[in-house]
Amino acid sequence: MVNQTGSIPRSFIENLLARADLVQVINQRVPLKKAGATYKACCPFHDEKTPSFNVNPQKQFYHCFGCGASGDAIKFLMEYDGLSFVEAVESLAAQYGMEVPREKLSPKQQAQQQAKQEKQRDLYDVMHLVAKFYRHQLRDHPQSEQAKAYLKHRGLSPEIAKTYVIGFAPAGWDTLVKGLQADAQLQQQLVDTGMLIRKDDGKLYDRFRQRIMFPIRDGRGRVVAFGGRVLGDDQPKYLNSPETPIFHKSYALYGLYEMRQTREKFDHILVVEGYMDVVALAQFGLRNAVATLGTATTIDHLHMLFRQVNEIVFCFDGDQAGTKAAWKALELALPLMEKERSVRFLFLPQGEDPDSMVRKEGLQNFQTRIRNALTLSDFLFQGLQGRLSFPLSSIEGRQQLVSFAQSFIQQAQGLYQYLLVERLSELVGLPAWRLEKQMNVHSGFAAFKKTPQNTSNAPQKADIKINRVVTLPLKLVRILLKRPSWAEFFPENFAQDLLKSQQRDYQVLGGAIAALSGHGFLHEAAVQWLQQKGFTAELQLIQQSELPDDDAFLKAEFDVAIVALAAALDEAKLGQAGWNLTEMIRLQVLAREK
Ligand code: UTP
Ligand code: MN
Repeated sequence: MVNQTGSIPRSFIENLLARADLVQVINQRVPLKKAGATYKACCPFHDEKTPSFNVNPQKQFYHCFGCGASGDAIKFLMEYDGLSFVEAVESLAAQYGMEVPREKLSPKQQAQQQAKQEKQRDLYDVMHLVAKFYRHQLRDHPQSEQAKAYLKHRGLSPEIAKTYVIGFAPAGWDTLVKGLQADAQLQQQLVDTGMLIRKDDGKLYDRFRQRIMFPIRDGRGRVVAFGGRVLGDDQPKYLNSPETPIFHKSYALYGLYEMRQTREKFDHILVVEGYMDVVALAQFGLRNAVATLGTATTIDHLHMLFRQVNEIVFCFDGDQAGTKAAWKALELALPLMEKERSVRFLFLPQGEDPDSMVRKEGLQNFQTRIRNALTLSDFLFQGLQGRLSFPLSSIEGRQQLVSFAQSFIQQAQGLYQYLLVERLSELVGLPAWRLEKQMNVHSGFAAFKKTPQNTSNAPQKADIKINRVVTLPLKLVRILLKRPSWAEFFPENFAQDLLKSQQRDYQVLGGAIAALSGHGFLHEAAVQWLQQKGFTAELQLIQQSELPDDDAFLKAEFDVAIVALAAALDEAKLGQAGWNLTEMIRLQVLAREK
């Protein structure tokens, strides 16, 4: 359980990784097939029928092109066998008959480390305990009849209630403390997880009372928060857990874990607004719906969803609030529309939500609505045309449409951007190159057509095209701004190499690392550097969504980003120093141990 000894020297981990044979490690668990220089299998981390999971024996590195899972032997054991980092190292070392040495820690360091680990782990345990408790209350509490009747009235079967671990928080102010016989430590943890509230006089009371409880689970199925619905007409109708060390609303999607548990392969995910919608749809057999938790969709939600499927269908009320939310989602999604990705918008009739709709018309009709949902581009152009104050046949109408469309088209990328330009060009009857020039976008077409203006010899102001997507290097900068000291993990000269790159985002990463390393790892150093060098758009983009201030979370994100960066640099053959994969994995190891 608790690690009583010091940390593992990084030299040992490097030796271990050098000695271990990744192909062997994986093949013992997932049968691999040789394909040229690499090995292939159906990915064990997501459901698929054709193999996109690749193992590279030279690089001792696995990567799934389907779900993006990647890493080394230690990472594989962590993910596949569900081990902690230390456990994975021990398991791997045992296989190769190596003994794991430990560095001596001072008693104080030891205590600190332990306290931190215990705290992390226990908050999840506490939530698990609470979910079980509420579940029992739904079954056995003397006042649970009302709750059971309510669920029945909403049409939910006991099976669905079980799948979603739906429970009941009875009335009363001290149900949890009494029911769990919580000692002082557990009480504090219940406060930390937001389940209890401490009054000014120090007294504690239950946050959730007389409510139907919906546990919110993270990607690994751990309960991280709850949503509670009143049984009657009290306000607020829904109460959600506050942000806690283990719960970050903008990263949580209700129903995603349960969807993945079905092990079915879905080609799209339906994003709805309410807990009840997810559960009601599941009751009718539609298992690929998820809900945001009383917040607007965030960019991080979109990334999470696109990791699972290529198509996201947003479902909104047909009212004004729904339309507004749809436009927000559209703006977030626009820069992400690449390759096979697509986004659709489904608007329900006034006063309906997916729950009421599916009950009224049945699953088949509801599925038809999903199939007929508006594509992003149709929604965009129909919406913009709806705003015109002149007919589209008039000069004024055409001018207006171009002006309305500009900021949206500027946010799109690559081919999708060009296809939007082309559609606009059909609508207003102007050539695409003329529109690109007008809107200051360069999606490729203009470069092939000689424009009359190009014949002028006047020097053209260099247009810096800002990539509106948070790319990999920008993601890393975002993490570094949160944990500036992690800049120290990057090898010397690495930052300098990145600064020489032609790509702005790599320069941004290089500059941030250099600024942080050179100025005592002060967050402000990086921010100032970015501002001074004119990377303000990138800075804005980075700061557009706040990362949770949680070590375990940030470390995991850092891990994933480093591995992906390694692969990208390897491909780009960036830097004279030859920053290759192994080098970068070493970084990852350093980061983990910190
Ligand atoms: P709705 O009011 O549309 O609820 O809120 P609903 O899902 O249709 O609920 P039922 O059918 O009356 O049971 C949609 C979502 O907005 C959040 C919740 O996440 C809810 O599921 N919400 C709503 C809150 O967080 N607080 C509230 O007071 C109301
Ligand atoms: Mn509803």
